[in-house]
This record gives sequence, C-alpha cells and structure tokens, in this order.
Amino acid sequence: MSANSIDSLQHEGRHFPPSDSFVSTAVASPDLYDQANRDRLGFWADRSRELLHWHTPFTEVLDWSDAPFARWFADGELNVAYNCLDRHVLAGNGDRVAINWEGEPGDSRTLTYSELTAEVKRAANLLIKLGIGTGDTVAIYLPNVPEAVIAMLAVVRIGAIHSVVFGGFSAESLRSRIDDAQAKLVITADGGWRKGKVSPLKPAVDGALALDKGTPLSVEHVLVLKRGDNDIDWVEGRDLWWHDEIETVGSEHEAVGFPAETPLFILYTSGTTGKPKGIIHTTGGYLTQVTFTHKNVFDLNPEKDVYWCSADVGWITGHSYTVYGPLSNGATSVLYEGTPDSPHPGRWFEIIEKYGVSIFYTAPTAIRSFMKVGRQVPDAFDLSSIRLLGSVGEPINPEAWMWYREVVGAGTAPIVDTWWQTETGAIMVSALPGITSLKPGSAQVALPGISISVLDETGVAVEPGSGGLLAITEPWPSMLRGIWGDPERFVETYWSKFRDAFDTPVYFAGDGARLDADGDLWLLGRVDDVMNVSGHRLSTAEIESALVSHPIVAESAVVGAADEATGQAVVAFVVLRSEHAGDQTVDEASVLLRGHVTEQIGAIARPRQVFIVEELPKTRSGKIMRRLLQDVAEGRAIGDTTTLADASVMQLIADRYKK
Ligand code: WT7
Repeated sequence: MSANSIDSLQHEGRHFPPSDSFVSTAVASPDLYDQANRDRLGFWADRSRELLHWHTPFTEVLDWSDAPFARWFADGELNVAYNCLDRHVLAGNGDRVAINWEGEPGDSRTLTYSELTAEVKRAANLLIKLGIGTGDTVAIYLPNVPEAVIAMLAVVRIGAIHSVVFGGFSAESLRSRIDDAQAKLVITADGGWRKGKVSPLKPAVDGALALDKGTPLSVEHVLVLKRGDNDIDWVEGRDLWWHDEIETVGSEHEAVGFPAETPLFILYTSGTTGKPKGIIHTTGGYLTQVTFTHKNVFDLNPEKDVYWCSADVGWITGHSYTVYGPLSNGATSVLYEGTPDSPHPGRWFEIIEKYGVSIFYTAPTAIRSFMKVGRQVPDAFDLSSIRLLGSVGEPINPEAWMWYREVVGAGTAPIVDTWWQTETGAIMVSALPGITSLKPGSAQVALPGISISVLDETGVAVEPGSGGLLAITEPWPSMLRGIWGDPERFVETYWSKFRDAFDTPVYFAGDGARLDADGDLWLLGRVDDVMNVSGHRLSTAEIESALVSHPIVAESAVVGAADEATGQAVVAFVVLRSEHAGDQTVDEASVLLRGHVTEQIGAIARPRQVFIVEELPKTRSGKIMRRLLQDVAEGRAIGDTTTLADASVMQLIADRYKK
C-alpha cells in the first residue's frame, strides 16, 4: 500500500434490524457489551467459569508480562474432552445427539453424547497403548468422518497435541507438517468419499513417509481407518487397522485436568513466506472464547437447535465450529463427508431438510456457487427449519448476502458475517443476533471483550469513513500462543507492524478494513502477499517456490486474481529455463506445472492459469511488481509502469495475454 489508508468505494445503505420475536428469545444480551467495556478481564473470567468445567479453578486471568506471549487462566486446570463430552453425559444429556453424520454416498451414522464419549475413551486408551503421552504430537489426515472428531478428542483427552492436515494436501505438504511437529503417530483412512469417488489418503501417507528428507522420521505408527475400501499398501509393524486395535483396549478412561496453557493443537496456515506456519493454540483460553462465541454468535439453544458448519475439520473453522464449540456447548450437529454437489447439486439442501438444520454456517464461495446454479435447486427442498445463517472466510458481497437471506433464510433469517483467522482461534468480529441491526456486506463490530481498531500505516486510528489496517489492540483468550518452533517469526509476523506506535504489542491481522460512519467494519481483503481462494489462505511465496522446484522453471510470480466463483484464483507467471524453453508447447508446460503444484502442495493451490513469459516485471531494485501482473490476470489495462527497470517487459506480457 502506498498511501496511509485504503479507500473503499463500497456504499451499501440497507439495514435489517432484528425482528421482535428474535429479540425476545435471543441468547446474547446487550449487557455483555457493557460488562466487557467496564472490565474486559473480569468479563472473560466470568464467561470461562460459567461456560466451562475447571478441574482446578483458575485465580489468574491474564498474564501479559511476557507480551506478545500470553498466558490465560494459567493456574487453572481443565480437560477439553471432558468439557466436550463427559460433563454433558453427567448432566443427564447422554441421549442427546452430538453428531448426525452423513457420508457422501448416502450412508449415515448418529452418535449421541454417551456414544461419542465411549468412543473417545476407547480411542484415548488406544493412543496410550501406542505410546502417545502428554505433549506428544499426532498428525490426523482423515476425511470428514466421526473418527476425525473422535481422534481429535482422544488426543486432547490425554494431554497430547493434534495437528490435523486437510485431506486435500499432498504427500509433500503432509510430510513437512509431520516433520515440523515431530508427529509420532499418523491417523488416516484408506480413503474418503469426494465428488462421487473414493479419494485415497493412505497412499499419500505412504508417499509422505517414504520421502527422503535426510532426517530421521518421527513417525512410529500409522493408524488406518477403513472407509474407502480402496486397495492400499501395508507396512507390517508400522501400519495398524483402527478397527482391529480398538478392540484390544478397554472402555474406561478418566479425564484428568491439564494446566490451561497446555498446547491443544497445531494448525498450519500460509503466510507471506514459503514455509507454512504451525499456529499453536492452548486449552483454557481457546475453549472459553470458542464456547462463548459459538453460543452467542449463533444464538444456540442446545436443546432445540440442529447446527451445521460445512467446514472440513482440517481447517480452523472445522476445529472451532464443527468440533470444539458445538460439543463444548452440548449442541446437536451435522457432519458431512463430501462435496456440496455430489451426487446432485442440491445435496447440501437435502441434508438441511433431512436433519432439520436450524443454524447453518458456510463460506461465501459456496453461496456464490449456489447462486450460479440458480434458486430452483434450493427451492426444491424444505428449508423452513433454518432460523440463522453464518458466513466466514472472505468478505461476503451484498448480492450474495441478500441471496443467502432470501433463498436459504426465507427472507427472514439473520446472517452473521464472522471475521476471524486461524490465528485468532475464534470469532472476533460479528453481529450478535437479536442485538445488531444487520448490514449486508459488513462484518460489523468487535465482539464483547475484543478490541479491534483500524489503523493507518503509522498506527494512528483512522477516522470513521476511512480505510486502513485491521489491528487487535488487546490480547484475547483464544489468541495463538506462537508459531511452533519459531518464536521470532511469531513476533515479527504479527506484532512488529505497529511496534513504534504503542507501548504494548498490537496484533496486525494482515487485512485491510474500512470503518463506516456508524463504526461498522468492512473487510477489504489481504494487504500482504497472501491470497484468499475459496475462503482458504494461500501464500504466493509458497506456490512460487513449488513452481521453481520444477526443473524447467527459472522464475515465477504468483498473484491472486478476482474470480467469480472462488473469490480469488491462483494465477502464475513463469519464466522457463532457457535450456528447456523449447521442450514443450506453452500449453503443455502449463498443464505440467499445474500438476506439479498439485503434487507439491495440493489441489487447492493448483493455478487457474499458468502464463509462460520471457521476463517478470521488476523494479530497479529487483522487486517483482505483482500489481501489474494482477492487472493482466484480471484482464485490465496495466497500471503505472514507470518504476519498472524495463517497461517493455510488461508491454510484451500484456500484448501476449490481452483478453
Ligand atoms: C483470513 C483468515 C477463520 C475462518 C476461515 C479462514 C479472511 C475470514 C472473513 C470475513 C472478510 C474474512 C481474512 C482473514 N476472512 N473471515 N467474515 N470477512 N474476510 O481462516 O484461513 O485463517 O484466513 O480470511 O482475510 O485474514 P484463515
């Protein structure tokens, strides 16, 4: 960004105040804001005591003396799995359905809180038998099946740490995550159902573990769930079937409390450099904020509601709002294995009808893809159970917001547009149903107990009506506690931007935002070299280094280009090594390199287009001018080229790829 603030031209005048009936029964009450404003730490301490079971009550709320390394509720002890399971059974709710699971081919399974608790106890015993103890890490590479949830809860029940790797990531990506976290065990499946066929997982694990990285492998065992029934290879002694092993252990397991700053999980996310960051979350603060937000933002009545978050458990949304938030609140959820359009385009709506989903949480990219197929698809199903809708992952454009409300929410359901990140652990900015008057396209206001500012480059708060950088000015319970193995990168990435302007560290989110005259927030997208594809963050640097790892590539530059379906799409510009330049046609090279990125990172990072160019546009100091490449990728006239070392480079690219 060159100027001190970002300007946004978006003007959206529509308001939707909550209906009287919603107000009268709303879970959240306006005095949450008052209490949090008066006493932020007291507010969080009260929420934590009221929402969670503490094996040992805490007396300290926040220790910020080693900022930005925070400690919340540090002298308290709790067990996350106990909070998500046992306590609901003990309270007499064991027969309540915890998970309505739906497999893509149409098979299904229902687990009550009693059943889920029993499964997790057994799995915890199995982990212990396999030598997993407190502080060990377990990699989970599973489809969206109940065992993914069971595995996560079993790991945390014994004080170990999970690292869930989304099943769409490649063997390479899986291996780098296994190595970074030194995982002792990998829990996977033979395969899972996606898009009407079995997508293999175990072969990717085999591939990952076979890669020669020149370092000893941390993995001792691979525990394999039978799901896809696809043929797989087997390494005797290392590989174990879940269904065989689970029979060998007992069903009793008592959950003990662990200190609140015990690591809960590591989740990898893309940053501005090539290496993904292992974001660390711990137990007490995380579970407090996730439970609070899940209850209040989604207006949850656990006795009545059927809640569905469509995110895969491999993403932070799946961790916080498919697994931990709903289970901690004793909610009844839906878990779906497959893709929205398999075997037919109305699959998700069929599931909403089948289970009577009342609260539905999804991403704008999915909403836009439904808009494209047309409202006759959802209209063919009874969606009258829906009473609240949520959105996450990227800005939701007002048209998509209106469509979502009209078509899925019968024109009446409130929509909560929730802004947060892998790093924040839980929702930070959102309307509260029954309180906030909704504005399509705006994420609206910081939640009670959360301090958000929009700052200019020098750290000065912008005036209402202007744009700037989204910053979090006070620590929050579910904040990341660091980057696994890299405390310096943690400080540098998140806490250094506004270093000179404040006495205590202020968190830089990497997002641009505008504050309107009412003080509502409008998210404007990333301001760093990170793009947002279908609500998932991808780093330009990571894809660029995957591209240059191919022998025919000399240089590459990746940009995010606006895309109707996915928000942004990956577009790559590649310079071939001169000795290979004639080896294949431009089209062949493009196919080859798209496949290579899929192999290196996973299909989510596969470029929509690969442009082969002679040179990349660079400034005199050698910095690639991605903005100009973005102009080409988005089919615009190219912008100002005066700072380029050689302006003719850009002219050549533009001429060749003019729409
Ligand atoms: C980035 C975080 C945590 C949810 C899933 C993505 C963007 C997220 C919104 C929203 C506008 C949003 C931001 C953020 N983002 N929610 N409601 N409105 N933008 O998690 O992969 O950690 O990505 O997603 O750019 O920084 P993530």
